[in-house]
Amino acid sequence: TSAEKSGYKHFMLKEIMEEPEAIESALVGRVTLEGPVLNELKEFNVERVEKIKLVACGTSYHAGLVFKYFVEKHSNIDVEVDVASEFRYRNIHVDDNTFVIAISQSGETADTLESVRLVKRKGAKVISISNVVGSTITRESDVTVFMNAGPEIGVAATKTYVNQLIVLYILGMHLLRMKGIWNEELQRDFEFLKQAPEIFRKILNNIDLEEISSYYKNYHHFMYIGRGINYPTALEGALKLKEISYINATAYPAGELKHGPIALLDPTFPVFAIAPKDNLFEKTKSNIEESKARNSRIIAITNESNKELEKIVDDIIYVPDSPDDMYPLTISPVIQLFAYLIADMRGYDPDKPRNLAKSVTVE
Ligand code: G6P
Repeated sequence: TSAEKSGYKHFMLKEIMEEPEAIESALVGRVTLEGPVLNELKEFNVERVEKIKLVACGTSYHAGLVFKYFVEKHSNIDVEVDVASEFRYRNIHVDDNTFVIAISQSGETADTLESVRLVKRKGAKVISISNVVGSTITRESDVTVFMNAGPEIGVAATKTYVNQLIVLYILGMHLLRMKGIWNEELQRDFEFLKQAPEIFRKILNNIDLEEISSYYKNYHHFMYIGRGINYPTALEGALKLKEISYINATAYPAGELKHGPIALLDPTFPVFAIAPKDNLFEKTKSNIEESKARNSRIIAITNESNKELEKIVDDIIYVPDSPDDMYPLTISPVIQLFAYLIADMRGYDPDKPRNLAKSVTVE
């Protein structure tokens, strides 16, 4: 009913609008004066970790990829991420210095659970990240870090993706700090996390994507591009769009366009560029120019003080200036709302996409 949706047309929209409060709940007790803390990991000798393997499906897999870019940038820990349906059939090597992190919003995804069982049999320690207290993954892993997003009804993950990112950033920062790694950039990232609820409120109160989305609602294809820590953002943007609007959206690392996918581009094939002004911006900008030369319509997300794309792209969405590591967070509500609006304009129910389930409990 509309009461359950607090007056919003769909749960998905309601849940996107709940992101500021969801983030607040994820931060409670985990941001202290001394820095990021995860009491859940007290029993773990986290300073010993040398390798981390993450396993997840769907949107949770994309959150894992963000963690990989973040932790590898700031340390020499080897981080590997795989989708659970592949992980469970690989020959995974674990030793005393390997941690496995299994991410599952529902805690019931069959492939992720089997992956946990597999590495537990091999003697690995498993940290799970879940939103559901009492779910199977919380019982089978050694410890669970809850994302505290509150129940999510919409099939496409929104606020739980944001909270996965929050929890994974805190987890990464906690590991780094325990290993004696801390620097000004990490301190800025940490300060940003503390302000994230306010920043999200500002984004969600000011954003107006109706007109821009309407320009794109009738396309049959979409190419999302991004680099570095925002390559996962491109993947998640494309997944959201295909899940609920049934548009054939794919995502590529921007530098990979020239190795094949650029052949697809023409005026019928728009490009959605995730292009904040970070250390890879100039590279992404060249890829945007190459796409423009194929006459694709280009929509880009960048940060508000960066005006360099105004003359190149057709449409721009601005997000607040953020530390480089944090753009996956600030850009998330935008890609979610864009997909939501397009699905709604195309006449689909974004809460119940065809052929999809909220959690996939069979193989
Ligand atoms: C399903 C849902 C996705 C979700 C994935 C993983 O495919 O439709 O939105 O990302 O499962 O779910 P989990 O609960 O394990 O995070």
